[in-house]
Amino acid sequence: MKERVLSGMQASGLLHIGNLIGALRNWVLIQDKFDCFFFIADWHALTTNYAHPEMIKKSSDDLILNFLSAGLDPKKCVIFQQSKVLQHAELHLLLSMITPLGWLERVPTYKEKKLELEDRDLNNYGFLGYPVLMSADILLYRAASVPVGIDQAPHLEITREIARRFNHLYNTNTLVEPEALLTEFPKVIGVDGRKMSKTYDNALYLSDTPKVIENKIKTMKTDPARQRRTDKGDPRLSPVFELHKIFSSVEEREFVTNGCKTAEIGCLDCKKILIKNIVDVLTPIWERREHFKSQGILGDILKEGNDRAGKAAEETMELIRADMKLI
Ligand code: TRP
Repeated sequence: MKERVLSGMQASGLLHIGNLIGALRNWVLIQDKFDCFFFIADWHALTTNYAHPEMIKKSSDDLILNFLSAGLDPKKCVIFQQSKVLQHAELHLLLSMITPLGWLERVPTYKEKKLELEDRDLNNYGFLGYPVLMSADILLYRAASVPVGIDQAPHLEITREIARRFNHLYNTNTLVEPEALLTEFPKVIGVDGRKMSKTYDNALYLSDTPKVIENKIKTMKTDPARQRRTDKGDPRLSPVFELHKIFSSVEEREFVTNGCKTAEIGCLDCKKILIKNIVDVLTPIWERREHFKSQGILGDILKEGNDRAGKAAEETMELIRADMKLI
C-alpha cells in the first residue's frame, strides 16, 4: 500500500509560475510514488474573499485546468474540489468544538495575513477558523504527509495538535498526525523584484499568452545603474537575474553575468534568453491547456475525483462519528 499524501491550493487568484515551481511541479513528480489526493480549496478562498465569490469561481476553473495542463493525471491521483465533498464541512464543525481559541489566535499566519490584507475586513469567524478547516481537509483523509511550503508549517503543527487532542479526548487512534513534506524550492521573484504574488500584481501567470509574458519581462527593471547600453551593470541588482537562476542553464547565467558586467550585452539581450526559457517551460502546459479546454472533459474529471474523495472521506467520518457518539 502506498502512503497517502494530500495537498490543496486556495482558489484565490490565477495560478502563476511561482505556484508552478513551488508546488504544482512537485505534485506532478510525486503522483506516481504516493496515493495522492490534490484539491481546490475554494472554501478557504472564501475566508478572505467572501465578498467576491465570482473571483473564486474563476480561479477554481483556472486551477483545475492548470492542474491537468501541468501534468497531474486523474488516473494516478484524485483531483477534487473541497466544496463538493461535504464531509470537509462536517469535520470542520466537529473539530471546531475541540479546538481552543488560544491555539487559533496564536497561529502566526493569522496576524500576518490580517496585516497584509489590511484593506479587507477580516474580523470574521471563518478567517480565524482557517486552520481548523485546513486540519479537517487533512485529517479527513488520514494523510501521512502533506507537501506544502514552509509558510504553511504552522498550519501543519496545529493540525497535529488537533489530531492529538481528538485521539486523547475520545480515547481512539482514528486521526493520523500528518508530517509536513516541506517542498524545497527557490523563492520566485516577481517582475518588480518582490516575491511573486497575485497580491502585488507582479506575477507571470500560466494563463498569460506568450506575448504577455514577453512584454512583462521586457518591461522589468534591471540594475538601476545601467542607464545606457554602454554602462556596465551588476546582475546581483537585477530581478531579471533572479529569474535566470531558476529558468536558465549555468552557461547562460555565466554568459549574461559576464555580458552585463562588461556591457557587452544589453538588458534586452539578457531578457530575451529568459523569455525563451520561460516560454519553453510554459509551451507544453499551454498546449495541454488548449487540449483540455476544447475537450470539455474538466467537469467529468472533477466529478469522478469528487466521488472518489467523498468515499475516502466518508470512511473516516464513520469512525469519527462513532468516536464522538454521533450514531
Ligand atoms: N492553506 C493552503 C495554502 O494557502 C491551502 C490548503 C488548504 C491546504 N487546505 C489544505 C494545503 C490542506 C495542504 C493541505 O497554500
